[in-house]
Amino acid sequence: MNIEFQLNNKNEMIEVDPSRRLLDILRDDFGLTSVKEGCGEGECGACIILLDGKAVNSCLLSAGMIAGKSILTLEKFNETDEYKLIEKSFLEAGSVQCGFCTSGMVMSTAGLLNVNSNPNETEIKEALSGNLCRCTGYQMIIEGVKLAVEKIEKEIPLVKSQSRKEEKNKEVPSKQNVKLQRKSLVEILNILDDRDVTIISGGTDLMVKNAGGSGVKPKFKNEPLFIGALEELKQIKLIDNEIHIGSAVTLNELLVNENISEIFKKSISEMASFPTRNIATIGGNIINASPAGDTLPFLYAVDAKLVLKNKNNERMISIKDFILGPGKTIINSNELLTEIIIPAKIYDVNYYKKAGSRKGMTLSKASMIGMISFENNLVSDVRIAFGAVASTVVRSRELEEKIIGKTNQEAQSVYFDICGEYEKLIKPIDDSRSSKKYRKDVCLNMLRDFFVKFDK
Ligand SMILES: Cc1cc2nc3c(=O)[nH]c(=O)nc-3n(C[C@H](O)[C@H](O)[C@H](O)COP(=O)(O)OP(=O)(O)OC[C@H]3O[C@@H](n4cnc5c(N)ncnc54)[C@H](O)[C@@H]3O)c2cc1C
Ligand code: FES
Ligand code: FES
Repeated sequence: MNIEFQLNNKNEMIEVDPSRRLLDILRDDFGLTSVKEGCGEGECGACIILLDGKAVNSCLLSAGMIAGKSILTLEKFNETDEYKLIEKSFLEAGSVQCGFCTSGMVMSTAGLLNVNSNPNETEIKEALSGNLCRCTGYQMIIEGVKLAVEKIEKEIPLVKSQSRKEEKNKEVPSKQNVKLQRKSLVEILNILDDRDVTIISGGTDLMVKNAGGSGVKPKFKNEPLFIGALEELKQIKLIDNEIHIGSAVTLNELLVNENISEIFKKSISEMASFPTRNIATIGGNIINASPAGDTLPFLYAVDAKLVLKNKNNERMISIKDFILGPGKTIINSNELLTEIIIPAKIYDVNYYKKAGSRKGMTLSKASMIGMISFENNLVSDVRIAFGAVASTVVRSRELEEKIIGKTNQEAQSVYFDICGEYEKLIKPIDDSRSSKKYRKDVCLNMLRDFFVKFDK
């Protein structure tokens, strides 16, 4: 397959197997060795590059996902004034020892500065959440980035940085010259009707599940079909008090959308790392139907509806009827998940907790979402859902209804009763990450915590 894209400000066209990892293409075909391979699974950040200005893990991208896109690696970024100040700051702050992680750290920093020119320490930590360093120590790297932010602000003032951007844009050959080579929704649905394919959206799950190792292309079950760049699947619209989210909307796109509630954003912000969230999609998370899928507790809690399309028809189904068990859904092979519909309602009290061993980069051991609304001092609505502690999300409308219509004080009095009932529904498993007793205890503690929170 011929793929056209921009690499370090130059138009390129390569004939390539669309499954090949971008990481291998950059290193082996273009000799861009600043792009390192650490883990090959999206965990270490050594392979981070900028894709259309956003930091992403090149080990999680395949050739088919870069058609019409711009890629920037350290080999070109190091010509900028911004890079020179980052380099100087890293040296001053002692942010480098062996240097293996450094190009990934620098590209993550560049990605951060593209969206936030004056990040605080929390935002810096968040942007570097997907970068591991085995020797320097993170504080020195964070200090290096803080210093770079100060220097860039002082030495490249806004006016200059604006004209710098314009200058940079002048150098870039027009993206219009790069053919987009992307299929339309109709073409995708025709292909799904015609043959068995492997749908790839963000690819963050499939690239890891089907990885062949360094330099070896991932082996997908069927011909890969890339849907992640489809404009029709990338919209977020508010229609009649409902939010329609395209299935290829990425987790980070949800995080910056004004229609998405803060509590949904909280659960998303604790998923994966910043660069992985730049490519991972909500649709992929749902179709995986993993008991530990972190968008699911919220989507179950709000009774999300899913739109499934094939060549001739469309159907809508609630998420609880869509997911049958771990990795199992009712989607047919000729269907595409196109849209997720959630109510725009905001609750008065919102609670979300995820237990995992490393924030954002680990599968949930247990999670809980709780939302409650009051009207005239009575509970008018309540939603409680637990993730990762049964084959699918645990939610019981029957138990929620025991709280509805009660005053706050009355609601507190049914806590023990409800807690006992949830204890029966929560059926975690023992595995290498934690015991079922730990998981159950954590859930019941979260439930207690939620009741305490709305009692205030
Ligand atoms: C380092 C790392 C950390 C992670 N951390 C978390 C985490 O904290 N929490 C969490 O929940 N997940 C996590 N994940 C898993 C993964 O990133 C998410 O599940 C992500 O949302 C998957 O989306 P995707 O677009 O990348 O899926 P893909 O890999 O593209 O697809 C996943 C599955 O969905 C199918 N599919 C995708 N879109 C559609 C569609 N529109 N219609 C029909 N089928 C479709 C694909 O065929 C495939 O079977 C992590 C993954 C990595 C690599
Ligand atoms: S090689 Fe580790 S994140 Fe890509
Ligand atoms: S400096 Fe050695 S891994 Fe970070």
